[in-house]
Amino acid sequence: MLLNGFGVGESHSGGLAQRARVKADWLLPLPAGLSERRAMALGTAGYTAMLCVMALQRHGVTAESGEVLVTGANGGVGTVAISLLSRLGYRVVASTGRLNEAGFLQSLGAAEVISRDTFSNPGKPLAKERFAGVVDAVGSHTLANACAATRYGGAVAACGLAQGMDFPGSVAPFILRGISLYGIDSVMAPMTARSAAWARLASDMDLAKLDSLTQEIGLGDAVAAGARILAGQVRGRLVVNVDA
Ligand SMILES: NC(=O)c1ccc[n+]([C@@H]2O[C@H](COP(=O)([O-])OP(=O)(O)OC[C@H]3O[C@@H](n4cnc5c(N)ncnc54)[C@H](OP(=O)(O)O)[C@@H]3O)[C@@H](O)[C@H]2O)c1
Repeated sequence: MLLNGFGVGESHSGGLAQRARVKADWLLPLPAGLSERRAMALGTAGYTAMLCVMALQRHGVTAESGEVLVTGANGGVGTVAISLLSRLGYRVVASTGRLNEAGFLQSLGAAEVISRDTFSNPGKPLAKERFAGVVDAVGSHTLANACAATRYGGAVAACGLAQGMDFPGSVAPFILRGISLYGIDSVMAPMTARSAAWARLASDMDLAKLDSLTQEIGLGDAVAAGARILAGQVRGRLVVNVDA
């Protein structure tokens, strides 16, 4: 069975426990084709990336609509979003503060890698129309500038706040270009959405690529690894072996 969200590891302790007593309603069967290890390598970040991709697709953003921007590219959401979108045929533009990882992002499928400075400072209400869709894990000025650079009728899926929780944008992209902003919440998402997202991860993710970006660490290394994540020193996915 599979469990993520519902506050487990946040308001309910036991996120890294070997056994936990949880509500049965929170459990999903592991989708066919996905091992427990791969499901945890995708984790909440991968499942959130899929919720974002599905929101863009429901809006009608197709590979033919134009480029898709992924912000926070080297993070968990970013790496899985890039892998998924490129496998689905989209031209992905990856925005990162770690340009030294451009080769890694290209190996995941990014067609172009740009500096996060392009979006992280205060910008104009409208910028040159570029992106048909955006997966934003960063918030703040980055989200506002991504909206301003979204093409007429395009869509932005906002799931994160790595830069900040604020949204210092204007209504201009919404009322002059008809763009849509989709809020993505993974924690309390209904079971139907969870089950659909996990099934799509099992079918759409390049599992060999997922394996290549996954490292295993022991339970005793988890706290130190958390500090390395916050310092931007981890790329790809870490799986905690709770028995090691
Ligand atoms: N809505 C939900 O249900 C949900 C679910 C999961 C995660 N989240 C949120 O989504 C965000 C991403 O999650 P994650 O697991 O991918 O986190 P992560 O692995 O820590 O990645 C975040 C990435 O954001 C970029 N970043 C960090 N600080 C930044 C700054 N000051 N300005 C601009 N970019 C910055 C970095 O990418 P580069 O090094 O490439 O620049 C970093 O790797 C987090 O805010 C998380 O809380 C929300």
